[in-house]
Amino acid sequence: MKNVTLIKGDGISPEISDSVVKIIEASGVKINWDVQTAGADVAEIEGDPLPKRVIESVLKNKTALKTPVTTPIGKGFRSVNVRLRKELDLYANIRPCKNIEGIKTPFRGVDLVVVRENTEDVYAGIEEKIDEDTMHSIKIITRKASLRIAEYAFEYALKNGRKTVWAVSKANICKLTDGLFLECTREIAKNYPQIEYKEILVDALCMQLVQNPAKFDVLVMPNLYGDIVSDLTAGLIGGLGIAQGANIGTDCAVFEPVHGSAPDIKGKNLANPSALLLCAISMLKHINEFDGAKKIENAFLSVIKEGKILTSDLGGSASTTRFTDEIISKMK
Ligand code: NAI
Repeated sequence: MKNVTLIKGDGISPEISDSVVKIIEASGVKINWDVQTAGADVAEIEGDPLPKRVIESVLKNKTALKTPVTTPIGKGFRSVNVRLRKELDLYANIRPCKNIEGIKTPFRGVDLVVVRENTEDVYAGIEEKIDEDTMHSIKIITRKASLRIAEYAFEYALKNGRKTVWAVSKANICKLTDGLFLECTREIAKNYPQIEYKEILVDALCMQLVQNPAKFDVLVMPNLYGDIVSDLTAGLIGGLGIAQGANIGTDCAVFEPVHGSAPDIKGKNLANPSALLLCAISMLKHINEFDGAKKIENAFLSVIKEGKILTSDLGGSASTTRFTDEIISKMK
């Protein structure tokens, strides 16, 4: 039996993690879940929203499935997600986006992957107050992190049969920081002559993504652009309810959906567990549970294709539990 850390956050996290654990159990894959809670409630009891035990558990098990954690806006504790990525050095955030048959969107032929640098940029959290009317935020871009993420993007392209890597920046304005990022992607590109290398400014990318998303393949970019662009690309395939992600480091991998804790639908049995389920499928492949992963994937795709039992974000009226039971029934 494999040990996997399950990081439980707040908002819709309990509902979607219950659903996914139930589906994995029903598939016959045996996982020993090391459940670790994180977030505001944990901070009240333990004094830290991300206690050491969570990090230690991921380091021990090497693999984690993570549900969203609410981050206070404009005040309060530093994002648990940002800290986790930093403390475990999960330097690559991978967000694949592919049309799923049965989910209606105005966009066809979408099959791209956002590779987001995950440890620096303005997410380094270095901000200072100059005076009441002036705040500073420091954007950090280093050669080490840029070379590492560029190499990851090209390796990913090679291993996954991808043809093109696009480097995304705003190097016309951020000449030093994004300029260094591009210098690094160009350097790495030279080692991969079999992969086509292209560059695009992030604003032009956003426009072209909604005009002709099918032309894009692997997109590598600094942290902030990656955060924003990957929500946009999630929208191209039907929204946050089906957008999966993975945070990869040298020692461990944490699989987590793109979406947040959705406090507006918390506890209403309305949440779509699909994004977390897609993360779980990738996580199972990562730990070599290919048969179980395929079984769950087929059941999921067939429920979506039939289009009868869908959650409301996908235009249906099914509850989280009804949708979960439908996927389980397809595996029998
Ligand atoms: P959000 O992604 O939680 O919600 C945006 C909208 O999408 C809401 O209307 C929500 O109901 C809907 N939605 C999201 N996931 C859904 C799902 N699985 N099924 C159905 N509908 C879904 O973004 P928001 O509201 O900006 O953030 C809420 C909190 O989550 C914030 O504190 C934010 O910092 C945090 N957050 C945490 C992340 C993480 O833990 N990895 C990632 C993104 C945000």
